[in-house]
Amino acid sequence: MSRAAPRIAVLISGEGSNLQALLDAASAGKLGAGIGVVVSNRAAARGLERARDAGVPARFLGGKGITREAYDEELAALLTEHSPDLLVLAGFMRILSPKFVARFEGRILNIHPSLLPSYPGLDTHRRVLEAGERWHGATVHFVTVDLDAGPAVLQYRLPVRADDTVESLTTRVHVGEHFILPRAVEWFVGGRLRLENGSVMLDEQRLSQPVIMEE
Ligand code: GRF
Repeated sequence: MSRAAPRIAVLISGEGSNLQALLDAASAGKLGAGIGVVVSNRAAARGLERARDAGVPARFLGGKGITREAYDEELAALLTEHSPDLLVLAGFMRILSPKFVARFEGRILNIHPSLLPSYPGLDTHRRVLEAGERWHGATVHFVTVDLDAGPAVLQYRLPVRADDTVESLTTRVHVGEHFILPRAVEWFVGGRLRLENGSVMLDEQRLSQPVIMEE
């Protein structure tokens, strides 16, 4: 059966402001795709409400008491019902098993709040401030089995100011995330972006470094 537009699935755990940016881009016709389903591993995630408000199926899949592999099997089954062309991890706070990642290889994008490869992991804004970094930002990257280490597609860079706090950096980085994530998704669903033998291809050019946008 042919479909009008590609569909994406968005995985979240919390606030869902990046999901909102995708929902807004989709409803403005700027994404080139529809959002087919939103899945959260936390029942109270505000993002589930955002999905429902936009008329998008919102599913909670909790992981209590089951192994990572069992969770990922359930998640894959749920996603497969919606046949997504792309999975977007937008603040999804679970590590995906290698089997899951392999199953959707080249079709998973993540947004991470740092200039990867610097500052993988959690609590990036505080760590950046403590280290006295001059630059910070966010990265959209393909997901591979190496946590926060898949090939980077697009980065948003901002200068750290003397009076920045964790709160101000969180806000400024979010602004950038809401800008770069829909853009990378649009590139992917428009056929401009793909992962090929571990490298990012954009408009048939192999990227040796991510595309950079500045604040
Ligand atoms: C973002 O900062 C994203 O980079 C990180 O988790 C946060 C999610 O924020 N992976 P939100 O739920 O989209 O508001």
